[in-house]
Amino acid sequence: MMKNLLKILAVIIILFLIFIIYIYSGSYNISAMVPHNKLTRWVIGVTTDNSIKHHSKNITVPNLNDDAMIKMGAAHYKEMCVDCHGAPGIPQDEIAKGLYPKPPVLARTVHEWTPAELFWMTKNGIKMTGMPAWGTTHSDEKIWALVAFMEKLPNMTPEEFNNLVKDVKADND
Ligand code: HEC
Repeated sequence: MMKNLLKILAVIIILFLIFIIYIYSGSYNISAMVPHNKLTRWVIGVTTDNSIKHHSKNITVPNLNDDAMIKMGAAHYKEMCVDCHGAPGIPQDEIAKGLYPKPPVLARTVHEWTPAELFWMTKNGIKMTGMPAWGTTHSDEKIWALVAFMEKLPNMTPEEFNNLVKDVKADND
């Protein structure tokens, strides 16, 4: 019994040492051009999805069907999000093409998320990705405006987007 426990302990210590040697050796390729393997992708995917769902559970969603709010959200979106996520009639910028993981075209993916989840991700950002935490510089009110705008994104035409942003300017906070 005792012997077996010692064997298991020895194996754990050896695996741990191999791991330490591996991370110090530099042989892991940190390049953003080399995709994760399937197992890593699965672990990150499950962790990310469940973390977002768990943390946005108790968020109370305000009324998002407010034209002034949608307009304010559109102005901020144009300023801060278009390069990475694109907008109606505007493709993603080259910065988005080089990021790993790649930012999604939001018009295609917002329907997969609830407004509370969109709010949480926009406010907190997502660790180890290019997605910034906008809550360090923006009030909850501005972030809800972004969510109100994103909710309208999937069916928006380039003309509608241009009309929304043509005469508003987002202030810098
Ligand atoms: C520098 C690039 C960059 C900018 C700028 C950026 N994002 Fe992101 N965003 C990302 C990346 C990368 C992801 C994907 C993260 C992942 O794979 O987990 C992401 C994911 C998201 C998601 C989750 C979407 C999905 O389907 O997975 C939302 C919502 C989002 N961003 C909103 C915004 C908003 C709103 C803004 C502007 C206020 C913004 N982002 C600005 C890079 C960016």
